[in-house]
Amino acid sequence: MVIVGCQWGDEGKGKIVDVLAEDVDVVARYQGGANAGHTVHVGDEEFILHQIPSGILHPEKRCLLGNGVVLDLLQFFEEYDALRDRAIDLEGRVGVSHRAHLLLPYHRELDRAWEEGSAEKIGTTGRGIGPAYEEKAGRRGIRVADAVDAERFERLVTEGAERARDRIEQLGGTVGEGFDRALDESLALRGRILELAVDVGLEVEGALDDGRRILLEGAQGTALDLDHGTYPFVTSSNTTAAAAATGIGVGPTRIDSVLGIVKAYTTRVGNGPLPTGFDPEMDERMRELGGEFGATTGRPRRCGWFDAVLSRYAARVNGLTGVAVTKLDVLDTLPEISVCTGYRTPRGLVEEFPADTHGLEDVEPVLETHPGWESPTTEARSLDDLPVNARRYLDRLQELTRAPIEMVSVGTRRSQIIHVR
Ligand code: IMP
Repeated sequence: MVIVGCQWGDEGKGKIVDVLAEDVDVVARYQGGANAGHTVHVGDEEFILHQIPSGILHPEKRCLLGNGVVLDLLQFFEEYDALRDRAIDLEGRVGVSHRAHLLLPYHRELDRAWEEGSAEKIGTTGRGIGPAYEEKAGRRGIRVADAVDAERFERLVTEGAERARDRIEQLGGTVGEGFDRALDESLALRGRILELAVDVGLEVEGALDDGRRILLEGAQGTALDLDHGTYPFVTSSNTTAAAAATGIGVGPTRIDSVLGIVKAYTTRVGNGPLPTGFDPEMDERMRELGGEFGATTGRPRRCGWFDAVLSRYAARVNGLTGVAVTKLDVLDTLPEISVCTGYRTPRGLVEEFPADTHGLEDVEPVLETHPGWESPTTEARSLDDLPVNARRYLDRLQELTRAPIEMVSVGTRRSQIIHVR
């Protein structure tokens, strides 16, 4: 099964993966890097994971990072060691693809220099994602497999750093303090990363042949996909479900189902249009209600009503077989709740998600308003436990999205989940 975000990321994929991980053997990430941030609550503990799949919090599950990921060496081992320090047994549980590209300290520096130097800022997470994927596509990247030969590895990293230094200077920036130290630290991790390196595609294929169950976990969301999102305000990888096959190294015919994650309302962090965005007062209110601050950067997320134009688009481009709705409980106190069914533009009504990102800045959402339920949903464990207006709201989201709702999350804890099917 593929798990994919259907909005601009932050849909609560981490929680859903954490719940589903119970019933699978392997969880594998297929794209992105340390720009992702999954917050998972287990008991009273909070874990924020950037690269290692949240399946790691279930004993004995194997967690893999596929070739489609850009692996931030320093951040990865920081996260790995922090989990180990919190008594999570990691022995034999983490594997990284030999083919994954390494994200090195200079990619972060380049990311910042590009952002600072450009007139139209993307609002990246500053984690070096764009530069790392650029080098991959430009065939100058360094893969995990390149770490095998120590001398060659050092040469590649040094050349990469020099290239980056020149570029940063051309962009009018300078490399930060501690740059050389960070490079040395990265080089020193060569042996550790090789210990974890495996052929992820081969391992997943073998596990499938043995009848084991695999979750392929996407990061970010459909509207941040490099091809299908609100370009250029997107991330630098394909986040959508088809990328799971490429990013893991299995054929698309091995995928049985695609679960799309939608939040019961919409949020966006970073720049670019948010057609259903609230006015400042309501924006502030939802941000407080939903705790909508970036898990990676702490930035406030912009909030808006549920956008069914986007969710229908996500259902189509991902081939969703089901949907999980998250954070329904965040709407519990609202007297009225709206859903966007179309965009009004100077050229008429639009019901399909448009390619023209700049045009999207000016659309007016067509809103359909529903009465709220104004009572807590956090204890609901079946649809029947929900207030009737909450059920009607979910029915409407399902109808507009054109994919069946399979799960509804009503709180941050593992137990706060409704399994519909
Ligand atoms: P980048 O992926 O850091 O290059 O950032 C590009 C865009 O994607 C920016 O708008 C970021 O805010 C957004 N973005 C990247 N990762 C995430 C995520 O995990 N959640 C939400 N937005 C993200």
